[in-house]
Amino acid sequence: MSTSSEYHNATKYDPETIGNMPEVDWSAQPRPFKEFHSKTRVELRPHLLLARDEEDDRPILQQPDPTSPDYELSRLATLLLHINGVTAQQPTHDEPVFFRSAPSAGALYPTEIYVALRQVNNVEDGIYNFQVKDHTLAPVLEGDYWRDLQAHTNEPLSLGTAKIVILLSAVFLRSSWRYHDRAYRRILLDTGHVLGNLMTFGSELGYAPTTISHFNDQAIDEMMFFNKEAESTLILAALPDDTAPVEPLGVSTAITGNLVENNIQRVHQAAMITAQESPSTRPKMPEPLVGSTAQLTFALSRRPISWEDDLGPTILLRRSTRTFTGATMTSEQLGMILGFGYRGIKADKSGQFLDPARIATYLSVHRVEGLDAGLYRYDPCNSRVLLLRRGYFAREDCEIGLGQELMRDASVIVYHLADIDDAVTSTGERAYRYLNLDAGHIGQRINLAALKLDLGVSGIGGYFDDQVNELFHRPLTEGVIYATCIGQPQPQG
Ligand SMILES: Cc1cc2nc3c(=O)[nH]c(=O)nc-3n(C[C@H](O)[C@H](O)[C@H](O)COP(=O)(O)O)c2cc1C
Repeated sequence: MSTSSEYHNATKYDPETIGNMPEVDWSAQPRPFKEFHSKTRVELRPHLLLARDEEDDRPILQQPDPTSPDYELSRLATLLLHINGVTAQQPTHDEPVFFRSAPSAGALYPTEIYVALRQVNNVEDGIYNFQVKDHTLAPVLEGDYWRDLQAHTNEPLSLGTAKIVILLSAVFLRSSWRYHDRAYRRILLDTGHVLGNLMTFGSELGYAPTTISHFNDQAIDEMMFFNKEAESTLILAALPDDTAPVEPLGVSTAITGNLVENNIQRVHQAAMITAQESPSTRPKMPEPLVGSTAQLTFALSRRPISWEDDLGPTILLRRSTRTFTGATMTSEQLGMILGFGYRGIKADKSGQFLDPARIATYLSVHRVEGLDAGLYRYDPCNSRVLLLRRGYFAREDCEIGLGQELMRDASVIVYHLADIDDAVTSTGERAYRYLNLDAGHIGQRINLAALKLDLGVSGIGGYFDDQVNELFHRPLTEGVIYATCIGQPQPQG
């Protein structure tokens, strides 16, 4: 059995043992920010390409002006806000909770964002940390790091024309403090959501974001001076610019607090790539559903979501739904949401997704007009669902979701499953990282599409794993990677 499967199995929630989880020690919560004591910051707020609608105060994205000397910085400032900037605050007795444009399990925000820059007007070449709280860039490393990035990533093409590379790292303790060994799953899913914002919104600003998943972990982490057990790079993305081809402050980033959970270290380090390995093969397309028959197969709408100017505002105004009314949604909405969730699945050579073909999507339909209540498998290639079993499984879903009523009152629950050992056999232990990042990425697309269609949505990271397999009659070799509930939101206020 692979290290990834062992980790996944060891971190399952089980009704028999969930009561043995240690109490949450709120006084021990690490801050969800890194501090940099640097006097020179790049202020990003003045460069935001945002206006406000006079009537309803909605944010309106302004088009970047390629002739302006502020062109690069204004796009970067705007992109970072949409990737994972602060979009709301909630006062507490202590420091406010700063909610961000991507959701995060428990609002713990383990993902850090770094930006490598070269030849960006008015900004010194170097690597910067995105300081979300005050929307600034703090210098981390001075100079042009493209040679190092190229040496450690095997990715000369997208890097060659990019002026910006985004690096997403995990600060493990922020999440493991609360979720212990299972935190690694949520860290990857959270980071997948951040990646989802980057990959979907980047093109609105004229970037062609390309993920760089195959890199020499140790070399990149050492370049960043990460405290190896506390923080590690999960994924990079180059932002080549299709408009202008490019000619080809030493601050310690050490943070305190080590990764306390040994299982997280084990699974993360098992997936590290060394300099000698060749890049993993790109995934195949998913096979058409086996055994699908005309009577049991239902076509879903292929209508694409018409975003017009709404993608940016949807990201900035996004919040996870806390209560559903239990009312119905339509199968057209379901088709449009899942279609957007998987948009680009056929274009994975572009580096959008890492290995999405390995994720199987199952649905527990409670109330969707046009579909009987029951259990289905979704076929993303043909935009259709295969009915597996009729029935109303809201009570089972609620139990699966640790009793969370969201899971009972949603119109549909989307479950992502994957054969972890099979993925590891073809791609190595790294596959586990890809599966979780992709599930988070798809999850973020599902979030955005549902909100655009005026529905509510929330990711669900807490579930009894094996009960999902039982419900769908899936073998335990298939791990449950993520769940998302979609439905009619209870109006707030
Ligand atoms: C990976 C992941 C797992 C989550 N799991 C749950 C969950 O089990 N139950 C829940 O109510 N919300 C869950 N959420 C939603 C978070 O609680 C929410 O994102 C966080 O409180 C921040 O609020 P916001 O999304 O409105 O910005 C999850 C979100 C993510 C990304």
